[in-house]
Amino acid sequence: MDLGDINLFDPDAYVDELPHEQFAYLRKEAPVFRHEMADGNHFWCVTRHQDLITVNRDAASYSSWRKTALATIQTDDVLEQQRLMMLNMDPPEHSKLRKIVNKGFTPKMIRGLTDHLAEEARQIVAEAIEKGDVEFVEEVASELPLIAIAEFLGVPREDRKIIFDLSNRMIGSEDPDYQLDEGEAQLAGMEMFAYAQQLADDRRANPRDDIVSALLEAEVDGERLDELEFNLFFMLLAVAGNETTRNAISHGMLALLENPEQQQILRDDPSKLDAAIEEILRWGTPVMQFRRQTTKAVTIAGVDIDEDEPIVFWHISANRDETVFEDPYKFLVERSPNVHTNHVAFGGGGPHFCLGANLARAEMKVVFAELLKQGTWEQRAPARRLRSNFINGIKQLDVSLKPV
Ligand code: HEM
Repeated sequence: MDLGDINLFDPDAYVDELPHEQFAYLRKEAPVFRHEMADGNHFWCVTRHQDLITVNRDAASYSSWRKTALATIQTDDVLEQQRLMMLNMDPPEHSKLRKIVNKGFTPKMIRGLTDHLAEEARQIVAEAIEKGDVEFVEEVASELPLIAIAEFLGVPREDRKIIFDLSNRMIGSEDPDYQLDEGEAQLAGMEMFAYAQQLADDRRANPRDDIVSALLEAEVDGERLDELEFNLFFMLLAVAGNETTRNAISHGMLALLENPEQQQILRDDPSKLDAAIEEILRWGTPVMQFRRQTTKAVTIAGVDIDEDEPIVFWHISANRDETVFEDPYKFLVERSPNVHTNHVAFGGGGPHFCLGANLARAEMKVVFAELLKQGTWEQRAPARRLRSNFINGIKQLDVSLKPV
């Protein structure tokens, strides 16, 4: 391999397996690499763990606002819309908004939700076991994240499917199985927006003891979320919490199926589940990369980069960095607590660190606790992967579940 072989933005490079060889080569030979694209654009790729953390934590030098956190080329119109979401803001605007929404994500709120999620997980798994042969992604992994977000946002049970379909349509995809045109995604966004508006109006008129009411009432420095901010936050949550957690659960299942001795460790001692969840997150890294734009000339790992240059940092590569993780290509459920402090699946500890991290962990934990308790599992066919350089996705995983 040489640098001429590096081709990280081609979604086809992610269909059969992840291009780990390319990442390993870059970490060793060119950890900050100017990646030329076929269309004449370029991205600076940051692949080492330490460098990712440096960039992720320094929002003053690496902006999410200038060109958003997404590694795409966007028109000015789209840029302007995207910048209204917190993921694509910089301090101090970001800090202000984050302080307000943090009030909806208190440990008490999450605890209240997770007690309930355990019961939902029990039912999802029991139904799957009764069926026996299931397509795990659709029938198990995607269920709980959807329920969690819907409950979190106070979406009534009967409307869950609406939110699910809308968020799927909004994400769109480069995968031919889900190909949708841009207009379709925009329309779905507008419908989601209208739904959020309706929900907010209802809670303003009839406040309840739920998170939507808490978010609407939360005040920081005399300021509350305005209508637009609330609706956009609702949309961000509906998308950010669904596909990510679904893939984390699917990757965990696949890794445990492919490593039966690791699965046995958990069957023998379920108290090791917390550690295993962290290893699943490192192993699966559902969000493979995010983008920033330099606000001034910088030097990363000895490489000089000008102002207004695009940077992409790769969580998927940092989570296999051999200088941080021993045997990074081995799935080891007992790796933690080492991993717990180190993996960057939820970000590198900067201001945008995943707001839903503890909720996602709680969902993963209750699902795997039930899967281990209720059943034995067998894989029926090779998993099918999503065609994407952004989401590390499994779109099909056929398994047989039997009661223990
Ligand atoms: C395993 C599941 C998940 C993964 C791997 C994941 C990953 C991430 C990553 C990598 C970031 C960016 C961090 C950064 O740039 O520093 C992020 C941000 C975010 N995540 Fe998650 N996430 C997951 C689940 C969730 C859930 C369940 C929710 C909602 C309940 C959520 C809501 C958010 C939000 C709102 C942000 C933006 C925060 C900000 O801009 O300040 N995520 N997530």
